[in-house]
Amino acid sequence: MQRDLGRRRVVLSRGAVLVLAAVGAATAPTPHLATAQQQPTIRQYQLRPEGGALRLVIAEVPRPTAGPGEVLVRVRATSLNRRDLSILQSGYGGGSRDGLVPLSDGAGEVVAIGPGVTRFRVGDRVAGTFFARWVDGRRSAEVNATARGGSIDGMLSEMIVSHEDGLVHIPEHLTFEEAATLPCAAVTAWNGLFTYGGLEPGDYVLLEGTGGVSVFGLQLAAAAGARPIITSSSDEKLARARELGAFGTVNYRTDPEWQREVRALSGGEGVQHVLEVGGQDTLGKALQALGYQGHIAMIGALSGPAGAMPTGSFVGLGTRVTGVYVGSRADFEAMNAFLGEHRIRPVVDAVFPFEEAAAAYELMEREEHLGKIVIRL
Ligand SMILES: NC(=O)c1ccc[n+]([C@@H]2O[C@H](COP(=O)([O-])OP(=O)(O)OC[C@H]3O[C@@H](n4cnc5c(N)ncnc54)[C@H](OP(=O)(O)O)[C@@H]3O)[C@@H](O)[C@H]2O)c1
Repeated sequence: MQRDLGRRRVVLSRGAVLVLAAVGAATAPTPHLATAQQQPTIRQYQLRPEGGALRLVIAEVPRPTAGPGEVLVRVRATSLNRRDLSILQSGYGGGSRDGLVPLSDGAGEVVAIGPGVTRFRVGDRVAGTFFARWVDGRRSAEVNATARGGSIDGMLSEMIVSHEDGLVHIPEHLTFEEAATLPCAAVTAWNGLFTYGGLEPGDYVLLEGTGGVSVFGLQLAAAAGARPIITSSSDEKLARARELGAFGTVNYRTDPEWQREVRALSGGEGVQHVLEVGGQDTLGKALQALGYQGHIAMIGALSGPAGAMPTGSFVGLGTRVTGVYVGSRADFEAMNAFLGEHRIRPVVDAVFPFEEAAAAYELMEREEHLGKIVIRL
């Protein structure tokens, strides 16, 4: 499903005002995207602090070049995650830098490679990894410092340069717009269910709401033969979730004690997996829906931090809890193989043109989407 979205007012609540303002040479006619790779300059969005708020502006900057070990990528599509909205609204804890290029997620094609590059050739279709330098193994403080669109520049740019370690080949069956949705939400759901959760066919899985992470969780769990149970504030979205393979659905707005229904849907035994994205509104209830040897992947806090976790039942139930922060390139590649094997296509709710990036943020803030929101370049 793709919505036809016209130009919107580009004002967000909570003081994060978006202004599509050209800076520097951007007041001159901008190059057509199709010819961008021949131009000496490219366009990109940057976050600029102004009057106590962060503003999203289009800047024109010199065309980047690939150095040793680096790859020049013509970005064709990017996608939003909740983190991107948080960064715009609050600086994500105040850490974002003046001029930061937003958005962790994007996909495109290789247009040049620097000396020594061995993993990619010109013309390859690629996506950036969420952490520009986490190939495999344990995460570290050094890895954390390479989170795209937060610690370092992100993907909302006509071209980016990345070390070849920070790119993956995208599955052949996906468009750029579909592949652009994978780096953060999909890898997070994959790791929560498989890498840390050890999901098995027949397992019951609780997914909270129908945002990016949860809908990927639904698709991955269904493809693996598990039984995903998903909640939403919208019956319309739940109907769509059933089409996508949901075993059970519960409206958490009309049924505030939704965890009881989730437990009933699992035959009374409780679920084996939770992708916990809701925070204070959901964690306690998710624990009540959890069965023996259940795994909770701690991922997000859409309703605010959950606070203390009631751990009293953990020993008796054998509960496992893992904090998940996206994943490595190896995780991304393992997930891509699964997506290819099962021909899974990400659910793209809406696609916006580059010039209307602000409207994409606005849609996410309204929470009208199901799955992912994409910006085409
Ligand atoms: N740790 C990590 O690596 C990682 C990675 C990705 C995301 N996250 C975090 O995970 C969370 C989800 O991210 P996302 O990008 O998937 O968000 P998203 O696409 O913006 O999800 C929005 C949807 O979540 C649902 N929702 C909102 N409040 C809810 C609540 N109180 N209870 C249940 N559902 C609720 C709503 O679904 P309905 O409209 O269906 O009600 C809403 O439309 C965020 O907190 C994000 O920061 C963490």
